[in-house]
Amino acid sequence: MKRVDDFRLKFGKKELVPIMIGGMGVDISTAELALEAARLGGVGHISDALVHDVSDRRFDTEYVKGKTKFYKANINNSDKSSVQFNLGQLAEATKLHIGRTMEAKRGEGLVFVNVMEKLTMNGPRETLQVRLNSALDAGIDGITLSAGLHLGSFALMADHPRFRDAKLGIIVSSVRALQLFLRKTARLDRLPDFVVIEGPLAGGHLGFGLDWAQYDLATIVAEIAAYMKAEQLDIPLIAAGGIFTGSDGVSFLENGAAAIQVATRFTISNECGLPGKAKQAYFKASEEDVVVNTISPTGYPMRMLRNSPAIGTGLRPNCEAYGYLLDGNGNCSYIEAYNREITLHPDGKNISVKDKTCLCTQMQNYNVWTCGSTTNRLKDTTRQLPDGSYQTLSAEHIFKDYQFSVDNQILLPA
Ligand SMILES: Cc1cc2nc3c(=O)[nH]c(=O)nc-3n(C[C@H](O)[C@H](O)[C@H](O)COP(=O)(O)O)c2cc1C
Repeated sequence: MKRVDDFRLKFGKKELVPIMIGGMGVDISTAELALEAARLGGVGHISDALVHDVSDRRFDTEYVKGKTKFYKANINNSDKSSVQFNLGQLAEATKLHIGRTMEAKRGEGLVFVNVMEKLTMNGPRETLQVRLNSALDAGIDGITLSAGLHLGSFALMADHPRFRDAKLGIIVSSVRALQLFLRKTARLDRLPDFVVIEGPLAGGHLGFGLDWAQYDLATIVAEIAAYMKAEQLDIPLIAAGGIFTGSDGVSFLENGAAAIQVATRFTISNECGLPGKAKQAYFKASEEDVVVNTISPTGYPMRMLRNSPAIGTGLRPNCEAYGYLLDGNGNCSYIEAYNREITLHPDGKNISVKDKTCLCTQMQNYNVWTCGSTTNRLKDTTRQLPDGSYQTLSAEHIFKDYQFSVDNQILLPA
């Protein structure tokens, strides 16, 4: 009977344990978590979402405070078009977050950064260009392009000296999205080094509509593998979404995938950035608690726990501090939803916005408990303590369980 460890993810001559821990935005997949994956011979991800805030927390910088102060006069203005990111500071914060992480890397594995195109930052092209090139400057091993089609992203890095040496990949949820990307980047004569195929059971934003349940990861992996074969393309495919045991992983590795990307099981690791209260909520979740809704202003459905504190709150938009989802014209669908409620309740009291959430602020505060569809099974991966809470696990324990387990077994902590 095969184990995940019987397979290797190959990048040229480099051979890795075929386990990637997926990017989990706003420091849920912390540097500590990503570094553990690298130490154990796999691939870990940090994320550049809200990088100023992450830098402030990690290194005592004051980027968020500085930006809030700079745009203070605009706080009560519903027009956010003037709120721009300082590109120099964006480069600085990115290099700090990534550079310090890379300096701490040990072992044979790799650390990648997850870069979401949907963080349009009121200047989609310029800000993305800075994010990508600063990541390469800071020595990141690879970049995973996510949350968007990224049709122009490779071109934004094409002049960087590391463009052909860093590992660059994209997350797709359909063969069509991959075809579009490959067609658009053909003239750069640079194929992606890996393709993550994310199915409908993943955490975070979904690359599907509300009909997500009609899709299935194994089918999409098979379609993409057939397309690659027909096109004579040899690019590692990495399956993601709902892979809960080593045996789940093996079934993908035996059927066309070169590695697996996993995340949900690591949300309750000691190294994960979620606060203890959120980790316990993940453990306690039942199947009914895990929902897909449309409260994210990105326009993508998102999976989360239905008791996420962010749902239904009515925060004043906080774009002067954050503003990562402003679309380039100063718009965000949360601002519209909030303004609608203010018109209905001009006294501004007890504002509740049910259809959208202020995602930047709420993710920053860990109030959106986004998670994969298998979250209700997390309780089966550990022990319950006498006080009723569940024991969190080391990332190493979870990683090795994926790597070595057979027969769908899950290794409980000692
Ligand atoms: C808490 C959480 C946050 C996530 N955030 C992001 C993100 O910021 N960007 C992204 O591309 N994917 C994100 N994902 C998706 C994961 O990187 C991964 O591909 C997916 O969840 C794997 O499926 P699994 O969670 O069932 O193992 C997130 C997943 C979780 C569980």
